[in-house]
This record gives sequence, C-alpha cells and structure tokens, in this order.
Amino acid sequence: MDMNDQIKYKTILGIETSCDETAAAVVQFKDNRVSLLSNIISSSLELQAKFGGIIPEQAAREQIKAMVPVVQEALDQAQIKIEGIDAIAVTEGPGLIGSLLIGVETAKVLASVYNKPSIGVNHLTAHFYANWIGEAEEPKFPILGLLVSGGHTDLIILRDHDKYEYIGGTRDDAAGECFDKSARLLGLPYPGGPQISKLALKGDPKKYNLPRPMMDSRDFDMSFSGLKTAVLNLTLKITENKKRELTEEEKVDLAASIQEAIVDLVVDKTIKAAKSNNIEQIMIAGGVAANPRLREVLTTRVSKEIPNSKLYIPPFNLCTDNGAVIATCAFFNPKGVNPLTLQANPSLHL
Ligand code: KG4
Ligand code: ZN
Repeated sequence: MDMNDQIKYKTILGIETSCDETAAAVVQFKDNRVSLLSNIISSSLELQAKFGGIIPEQAAREQIKAMVPVVQEALDQAQIKIEGIDAIAVTEGPGLIGSLLIGVETAKVLASVYNKPSIGVNHLTAHFYANWIGEAEEPKFPILGLLVSGGHTDLIILRDHDKYEYIGGTRDDAAGECFDKSARLLGLPYPGGPQISKLALKGDPKKYNLPRPMMDSRDFDMSFSGLKTAVLNLTLKITENKKRELTEEEKVDLAASIQEAIVDLVVDKTIKAAKSNNIEQIMIAGGVAANPRLREVLTTRVSKEIPNSKLYIPPFNLCTDNGAVIATCAFFNPKGVNPLTLQANPSLHL
C-alpha cells in the first residue's frame, strides 16, 4: 500500500516522558516520507542549562519543569503553531507513573484546549518506528524485531502496524541494564552503555572469557543476570577483593569483553528467531541499538546467514528515548481518542 493512503494526520506533535527524558517532536508526513521538523530532548546538558537546571533525584519533578519549555521549543524549531498540528501523540506507558503522568496530562490539556485528537502510544512499539523516519521506502512486513533498551529486551514478530507477536526475550535483566550495571562495576557513570562502547574501542574482546547464558537454549529467551554476576566476580578477582583499583588497560579489556558477550547473546538469538520463522526482514530498536559493535556484528552475520535479508537499523540519535518515534508511531496507528479518556498506564505491554 502507498504510505500516503494510510496517513490520516499529516503533522503530529509527539510527547515522551516515560522515564527521565522530557522529549517533544514535530513530525510531518510529506513527499511520501516521514520527516522530522524538530526533535527536542531535555536530558541534554544544553537544554538543562537553558531551562534552569534539574533535580536529578526527582524524575517526575524534572519532567514538570521541562515539559512546557520542551513542547514550546519543539513547535518553535518546527516553525509551526499548535493550531497547525493535526494530532497530539503521547507515550501512555510503560514507564514510571510520575513521569508518564506529566506527558499524558500535558497532551490531554493541549488536545482539549485546541480541539485536537489525542493518540496514546505504547513506548515499546514506538521504538521500532525510528526505522520509518526519513526513509523513502517503508519497511516491509513481516519483520523480526529486536527491542534492546534499558528496561526491555524482546524479540517480536511485527506482522503489521498493529499486529505483534512476542516470541521471546530476557527472563531477567535487560541488555541495557546489563551494560549499565557492568559499567558501574567498572566505576563508570550512568548510563553505562555509551561509556562501555567508547572504552571497548581500545580493548581486547577476547581478553576475558565471560559466559553467554542461555545462548544454546532452543527457545528465543535470553538471560543477562548471570553475565552481570560473572563481571562482578571477575572484577573482584582482578582487584583481589578491591585491594586495588582496576587499571585503564583492564578497564578497556573488560569493557570490550562485556560488550562482546552481550552482543553475541542478542545477535545469536535474533538470527535464530528470524531463521526459524522464515523472516527475511530484521529490525532493531531501543537505546542499545545505538551500540556500534551490535550494529556491526548484526550486519555481518545477517548478510552472511540469512539470504535475501533486509536489515533495518535506526539512525543513532533516534535509538534512545525521543518524541519523534512517538509521533511516527501515531502516523501509522492513528487511533485518536477523546483526550478525557486518555490515561497513563505504567505497566502497558506490547
Ligand atoms: O531506549 P532507552 O533510551 O530507554 C529505555 O526505554 O529503556 O535505552 C536506554 C539504554 C541504557 O541502558 C543505555 O545504557 C543504553 O540504552 N545505551 C547503550 C548505548 N547507548 C545507550 N548501550 C550500549 N551501547 C550504546 N552505545
Ligand atoms: Zn525507551
């Protein structure tokens, strides 16, 4: 189907506040593709400085402070007035209830006052829509999707825009959590994923032999908590129970070895899942999809192991939480509801 036929609302404001980022974007459907008019995220230092700083311990309170300036900035950068927006999309869940409420209530007020349809969006589904932004050609279904974020690691078959099948995922920690917690063991600041991937560039991924839990299990489930424990035990062994600090060389080799284990685990299961379901389109999404080593290994293995395959990898800046994917998801799932019935749902599933 032509993308144009599906598009009910041409210009959408997307609002995302599920965690500690306050984000808003204006996205437009134009010339048969999704284009970004603005994409504002207030976790960036610049914006925090611009809007008077943050209280890091209180994500929800930070959301309250940033929400209106971020929406205003998104509209200003897009050079559009709120009257020119066709619909307002917002993350309804899953996430932290205090944070979610700020976005949802803001969307409800804007939609009511300006008489716009409001569209509640599932945050998990939305991550995949980073792959629809800017592309002249729409991704083709069915798609084997890997969602790898700070809170989720799921394998999903996307049959159509609103047709998902969960086929496996982590039984304990998420891949991003494993990056973050391992990073903490190396003394690196949060979020640890980007820190580890930077250090790993200089390290030897074969230096330390870390386990790949459940890699050979016959299902599409994964596990990362054993890997995290192995990293803990390894660092204790290297430092003789914290008698000394890790050296820089040890840190870079640990970072590379940890990253390699996580990448091996998710790539292996993704390829197995695609093969056994006979799916040639593979798509990744979520914060960890920004990991360069994951992108590299997946690209190499998919092209080698799945004939006629097509791999969709989002642009780096659209992997982590943002309003653009919320608005884009709403383009293709335009179920506008009465703003008064819209509600935050912290435990929303896929
Ligand atoms: O999707 P996201 O922004 O938030 C959730 O919905 O969870 O993902 C955040 C996660 C964090 O765990 C962060 O460490 C990880 O994505 N992450 C990375 C990289 N960039 C962000 N992990 C590995 N390598 C990266 N380059
Ligand atoms: Zn997310």
